[in-house]
Amino acid sequence: MADKKETIMEDLVSLTKRRGFVFPSSEIYGGLGAIYDYGHYGTLLKNNIRDSWWKHMVQYRDDVVGLDSAIFMHPTTWVASGHVDSFDDPQIDCRNCKARMRADHVLEAFDIVADKMPIEFINAELDKLREQGKLKCVNCGSKDITEAKRFSLMVKSNLGSPTDALSEENVVYLRPETCGGIYLEYKNTLDSTRVKLPFGIAQVGKAFRNEIVARQFVFRTREFEQMEMQYFLHPSMMDEKYDMWRDARWQWYLELGIAKEDIRWYKHEKLAHYASQAYDIEYNFRSLGGFKEVEGIHARGDWDLSQHSKHSGKILDYVDEKTKEKFIPHIMETSVGLGRLFLMFLDKAFTVEDLGEGKTRTVLKLPKVLAPIKVAVFPLLKNKPELVAKAREVHDMLRKQYMCEFDDNGNVGKRYRRQDEIGTPYCVTIDFDTLEKGTVTVRDRDTMEQTSVSVEELSVFLEKNL
Ligand code: GAP
Repeated sequence: MADKKETIMEDLVSLTKRRGFVFPSSEIYGGLGAIYDYGHYGTLLKNNIRDSWWKHMVQYRDDVVGLDSAIFMHPTTWVASGHVDSFDDPQIDCRNCKARMRADHVLEAFDIVADKMPIEFINAELDKLREQGKLKCVNCGSKDITEAKRFSLMVKSNLGSPTDALSEENVVYLRPETCGGIYLEYKNTLDSTRVKLPFGIAQVGKAFRNEIVARQFVFRTREFEQMEMQYFLHPSMMDEKYDMWRDARWQWYLELGIAKEDIRWYKHEKLAHYASQAYDIEYNFRSLGGFKEVEGIHARGDWDLSQHSKHSGKILDYVDEKTKEKFIPHIMETSVGLGRLFLMFLDKAFTVEDLGEGKTRTVLKLPKVLAPIKVAVFPLLKNKPELVAKAREVHDMLRKQYMCEFDDNGNVGKRYRRQDEIGTPYCVTIDFDTLEKGTVTVRDRDTMEQTSVSVEELSVFLEKNL
């Protein structure tokens, strides 16, 4: 089982690098732990996932508006939210090989729930395992493991003049979650966009966490993108709207081809003091060996706005026009990592098909709406100028509507293989029939069936099928 898990992850990491989806950041300098760059196809796939989320969360709805707030925010933001004091994970180290581990993850492997538990509890549980001789380094197996200590996940920087750049007063944080900006722009949004409760603010952007352990490719990284939506409401509506959003988010996964057997709800039993409900959507990753969190849906009460009102001295109340009731809105949020969704869709799409006679093909069976390239156009032969010119013409026509690719390298079989590996749903070949009869050959990624379609009807054919 362990071998299988590793093989799928290795194949995914290798394919995504070879085909220009994901590169380890700063590779020529030896890399930088848990930071990745997205290449051409990775960027396109990530953009398509983001666009689908945005359409479902903002464009198709009347009650959600958008925001793009800055990464740097006033440092008091993170004091008010509690991050400066307590956004940390329990860290243990191996004295032998110096490997760093998250103590809660080590305990989880023994079925001990340690998420957000006090450090005293974690150390007591670690001691029990130590006494039983079960506490070992995940890297080298040594039993010489330190006590757990709190490790802050906040990434610090400095702003201001160079002379006082290192002074504590100039400390700013790279936001650890995007929702902080949403809370601070709640009032401006309310005053400028005609929204009334209940309403949501959605944004997509970078977040930064100094993760202790990050060995799971783009699943857990130190710089990542979050897609978050904060829904502001009267507390009496919380249960109804919480269920509405749980359902909306669940449906999004199903619509994008994730099987319902492959996702499940995880209910958090241990909640932050201000929260009333917290559920995660977990996906059954083949590459990570089982169900892991992809998205969180949290009922956060009035904690966020109350804290920011208290620390800023600004009134963040909402006055109901009809009832004249004045109150601090409660918030429920949906929060998902774009990189995590990226890995989920690749994990689901990655297929090695047996073609018989010892031959296989690797194909990314991505939902068509997410595929980085929608159509690839080939001239049958590279050395026939009239075929190349016609292929260029068809390519130029289609690229106005779709992300397309022109390829005249190698033979058609090789081109198909490359397009399969990047998940292109349709390949269009321009051959001598195109010149004589005005037809092209359209090859389907999943069935490998080839259909003859006239050039005039090509756009209609693709519109119907993409
Ligand atoms: N505002 C709430 C919040 O940030 P979270 O559970 O810490 O909640 C929400 O994070 C989501 O963000 C996670 O479900 C995950 O998809 C993503 N995420 C969190 N940390 C991440 C990391 N280090 N790398 C990639 N994605 C991450």
